[in-house]
Amino acid sequence: MDKDKLSNIATKLVAQNKGILAADESNPTIKNRFDSIDVESTENNRRDYRELLFSTDGIENYISGIILYEETLYQKSSNGQLLSELLQSKDIIPGIKVDKSAKDFIGFPGEKITEGLDGLYDRMTNYYNDGARFSKWRAVITIGEQIPSSQCIELNAILLARYAITSQESGLVPIVEPEILMDGDHSINSCYEVTNKTLNEVFNQLEKHKVNLSGILLKPNMILSGKESPDRADKNEVAEMTLKCFKETIPENVPGIIFLSGGQSDLESIDNLDAINKLAAQKGDMPWELSFSYGRGLQSSTLNKWNGNSDNYLIAQKEFINRCKMVSDARNGKLS
Ligand code: 13P
Repeated sequence: MDKDKLSNIATKLVAQNKGILAADESNPTIKNRFDSIDVESTENNRRDYRELLFSTDGIENYISGIILYEETLYQKSSNGQLLSELLQSKDIIPGIKVDKSAKDFIGFPGEKITEGLDGLYDRMTNYYNDGARFSKWRAVITIGEQIPSSQCIELNAILLARYAITSQESGLVPIVEPEILMDGDHSINSCYEVTNKTLNEVFNQLEKHKVNLSGILLKPNMILSGKESPDRADKNEVAEMTLKCFKETIPENVPGIIFLSGGQSDLESIDNLDAINKLAAQKGDMPWELSFSYGRGLQSSTLNKWNGNSDNYLIAQKEFINRCKMVSDARNGKLS
């Protein structure tokens, strides 16, 4: 695959003011989200909700790309247009989740390994032919009693590297997502240590497997205290520790870092992104764009406004565009 083509797409995805909407919830995950508003997760409801998001006027000013679940790539809007074509008509790049989810890591209780390599090249070639230009694979690392194991970190990193080179060979920019979960009561220092070790291993394997680093995006967690930690670090400490960790682990030719929002509340994820970008501007020597690829951080308030009722369509779209603008301001470190 043409190296320049991949890095041009990656650079476009992290253009100024812009970032990515993660709307690639698997069917079990979107069912959980719909359960929270008491809406049945049918194919039509999933289509209606995602059409509401994608057709919101003006999102292209803040959103460069949208990660889709396979079902959505082939779904049509209510007026018969493919949702992927609706995105292209707004100059939003369609992407696709290609992993088959994190499963129990047999022999290592409490840990997960991501599946999905079988048939991956053929699947990704089809997605490319059907309009996708980037892809995503999520690995999950859990902090707990005696975990993560080095075996879990190493194997997830190898799988991310195999995924990334396969994605590049099929013409899709890989989004490499090693997520250290914030579940638990661990300290921010534990998150820093585990993230540091994981990112070092991920880049070690990406290089071993000949991945072109200027044609990827990295989707990491921020460095955070565990959700149940009694003494959670504030946004300034989060920003300091996150940038310190990245400087130590992420090569300079990676064009962009696009954070996940993870288990943070939507407002916490926005505040932290803003603090990270404010500090990066102050330091002035960050080689990568520091943007977003938020699922819940962008969608939570809109999902609640919609509530499964078509009468709420416009109110929900208004909420969504406001939220996109807010996250974009945070991505620039300009949240007021
Ligand atoms: P959240 O921002 O809700 O964590 O989702 C991002 C994502 O794509 C997880 O894989």
